[in-house]
Amino acid sequence: MNIYKHEDLGGKVSLDSGVDVPFDIKRVFYIYGTKPGIPRGQHSHHKIKQYLVAIKGSCKVTLDNGKEKTVHVLDNPYTGLFQDALIWGEMCDFSDDCVLLVLASDHYDESDYIRDYDDFLNIVLWNTWTEIIWF
Ligand code: TYD
Repeated sequence: MNIYKHEDLGGKVSLDSGVDVPFDIKRVFYIYGTKPGIPRGQHSHHKIKQYLVAIKGSCKVTLDNGKEKTVHVLDNPYTGLFQDALIWGEMCDFSDDCVLLVLASDHYDESDYIRDYDDFLNIVLWNTWTEIIWF
């Protein structure tokens, strides 16, 4: 389950690390002022998990596990989208006013990024094979 609906506490939403968000939060960043037609993301992480909330405006997020893609419209501050490690993510169709809050499970580490889609598919395939061989 990737989508989490949070309670609107009368114009505010509270997210507890490890409770409402399914990991301990180590870093927070936000994406805003995006240029029209320019997608963001387009990468996966080896270990880092992310939790995305459009706290203002809206955007579209595609999550891809290497076998299937799901498309999610984030357009309110009380819905969170969980992006696990080894899930390819792409954000697009940002409204002009969009502020996309991203909570991350670890500090910034460029070596945790998988930026090439073919590399991502190979890693997913390799993991699938090793799981089959292991069990
Ligand atoms: P990146 O995560 O690739 O961008 P996007 O928002 O499109 O997914 O990050 C863009 C640049 O910002 C990249 O050079 C790394 C840097 N960056 C940090 O320094 N710290 C961070 O927490 C993040 C997310 C990015």
